[in-house]
Amino acid sequence: MRTMSRHTVERIFVAGHRGMVGSALVRALRERGDCQLVLRSRDELDLSDAAQVDAFFSENDIDTVYLAAARVGGIHANNSYPAEFIRTNLQIETNVIHHAWRYQVKRLLFLGSSCIYPRNAPQPMREEYLLSGALEPTNEPYAVAKIAGIKLCESYNRQYGTDFRSIMPTNLYGPGDNFHAQDSHVLPALMRRFHDAHQSHQQEVQVWGSGEALREFLYVDDMAHACLWLMDQPREVLDQLTSPQCSHINAGSGEEIRIASLAIQVAEVMGYEGHIVFDRSKPDGTPRKLLDSTRLRSLGWEPVIDLREGLQRTAEDFLAAHAAHPMMHVFSDVRDGRRTRDIPRLRL
Ligand SMILES: NC(=O)c1ccc[n+]([C@@H]2O[C@H](COP(=O)([O-])OP(=O)(O)OC[C@H]3O[C@@H](n4cnc5c(N)ncnc54)[C@H](OP(=O)(O)O)[C@@H]3O)[C@@H](O)[C@H]2O)c1
Repeated sequence: MRTMSRHTVERIFVAGHRGMVGSALVRALRERGDCQLVLRSRDELDLSDAAQVDAFFSENDIDTVYLAAARVGGIHANNSYPAEFIRTNLQIETNVIHHAWRYQVKRLLFLGSSCIYPRNAPQPMREEYLLSGALEPTNEPYAVAKIAGIKLCESYNRQYGTDFRSIMPTNLYGPGDNFHAQDSHVLPALMRRFHDAHQSHQQEVQVWGSGEALREFLYVDDMAHACLWLMDQPREVLDQLTSPQCSHINAGSGEEIRIASLAIQVAEVMGYEGHIVFDRSKPDGTPRKLLDSTRLRSLGWEPVIDLREGLQRTAEDFLAAHAAHPMMHVFSDVRDGRRTRDIPRLRL
């Protein structure tokens, strides 16, 4: 076990730093510039391997951990790989949280997800609704692993006096997202599909579900700032807002949008002008998902990037990373407020 600190600057391990949230955390921490980042790719450190995680913490004298590594995906990926979603996430959480305690990490932030709440939870969802009803079946294994992560943090806090915190983000999007057409979340999947449709002059794009489900979205850099904000709070302040067995904090934008309206906005940003058809034979997932972020707001945090701005930034990143550039003029039009395209036609 570590017995003596060998450094004066805070050493922060961002687990999953190449992912969408992890890379936003790295941007935010670098901008602040008052810490030393310790970063390892999955090839260098497989967090599902307990021996590797033990060796890493024993050698690196870490003060603070942001646990943003996970097996993540949308409805299709969750349905196709349920065993992988529950097993890998449980392994990563158990290994990182246990070794953070073992090697005397001062503070850890575990990132969960809004899918921890019951499918039919009252809206907006407050932290105390956790474990009050049945979960959404399509991502239950993932949600169970995320609930276990919260309970791991709480149990280590209660038994060993650690300061392990948990934050539950709403649906996130932004640079570095997974833009796979099927295995990703709804927003980046729509971006990919409308882009492909625009490039290949398709007349019609099919969207899973009825389009009626309501969702909340938060831009990933706002989320990263929420994480830093939460970690900056003194323990005593958080203790007044939480309890030992209900310690997690929600993080959402507070804005809801129907999937049909989201599809229209994404199509506009991507320059797609054809039809949008909703495939009602495919699942909608939870009908409505809005977090109550009163606790986090009461600490003074609030988001600054609205959906339109966030979509434009995300699309720019998508095009730079994944696509040829002939559509870049679309974003100039949107930015300058000189929208020349019709809103895409909707078929319900
Ligand atoms: N995206 C959302 O909408 C959303 C919403 C709510 C909560 N969250 C939570 O936020 C966190 C980050 O999500 P994200 O969207 O940033 O996911 P992401 O882009 O898929 O990033 C996940 C990261 O975890 C790493 N990872 C996965 N398995 C690993 C392993 N065995 N060892 C080491 N690293 C491993 C991945 O490494 P590779 O780069 O090598 O694959 C990747 O860098 C997750 O806990 C997720 O549940 C996300």
